[in-house]
Amino acid sequence: MPELELQDLVDLVARRVAERLGHGEQVDGWAHRPLVAGNWKMNAPAGPSLTVAIQAHVARLAAELAGEADLVLLVPQVLLAPVLAEVARAGLAAAVGCQDVHEELSGAHTGETSAAQVAALGGRWTLVGHSERRAAGETDARIRAKLRTALRAGLSAILCVGEREDERRSGATWRVLKAQLQIALSGLALDGPEPARLALAYEPVWAIGSGRTPEPEEVQEACSFVRTVAAGEFGHAWASRMRVLYGGSVVPENAREILSCRDVDGVLVGGASLDADRFAAILRIARQAARRAAGG
Ligand code: PGA
Repeated sequence: MPELELQDLVDLVARRVAERLGHGEQVDGWAHRPLVAGNWKMNAPAGPSLTVAIQAHVARLAAELAGEADLVLLVPQVLLAPVLAEVARAGLAAAVGCQDVHEELSGAHTGETSAAQVAALGGRWTLVGHSERRAAGETDARIRAKLRTALRAGLSAILCVGEREDERRSGATWRVLKAQLQIALSGLALDGPEPARLALAYEPVWAIGSGRTPEPEEVQEACSFVRTVAAGEFGHAWASRMRVLYGGSVVPENAREILSCRDVDGVLVGGASLDADRFAAILRIARQAARRAAGG
């Protein structure tokens, strides 16, 4: 892993000592109810027609999901209403959301999505700062504005951060993560939003859609770092109640290892979320992880 800056290292050591001692500003993020989010990107489950495919997918998930994990489906904006309708019809305990929103609530922004409209339709979540949006030119400043607007509109948000492969190779991972987080979070209220309404997803860009994942120790280290930076913004109590997700080539075969990392409170799943059986398997693993964390 790339080198930590001195202050980050001091923060991490301080946290570890507090955790060992079992008192002080203990960060209890690993005990959270896991959040499993499926990012469909510009795709939909396969089927004879879009409508039938969505029906079958939601029905399959409804047969699987029984508490202990929060499920979020992040669908293409154009599918928001049909997926919401299907989730309600099937009685699936899932929140539905979109993958991006504009930083203004309304206005002359052809082709953009309003967080207020998403919320008004019943959408509950949005991604902000996904690496595929960053690659398309989205700046940290814009991501900060989008995050603030999404939360103000009543949506919950998953803020995505992660280093590119060249940044990792050059030892810039911690600097990149810290900058992405600090800029995005600096647009929010001083004491932070309601922790349940903001999740921070560590998604190494080189792991997305590549079939490659960091080692579990590296996932843990990065997610712990993300929480430490968040604690620096809003305090340890806030950071201990907020969920940190890992994303990037999560599949049933690696989900158990990833979800057993202490600072991982859930997963953001792209490709595997389109296959109902594979996504249901990840949900099952998340539920088992929650049960283990609760000592059951
Ligand atoms: P992946 O995508 O699971 O297909 O790697 C993850 C993401 O982009 O959020």
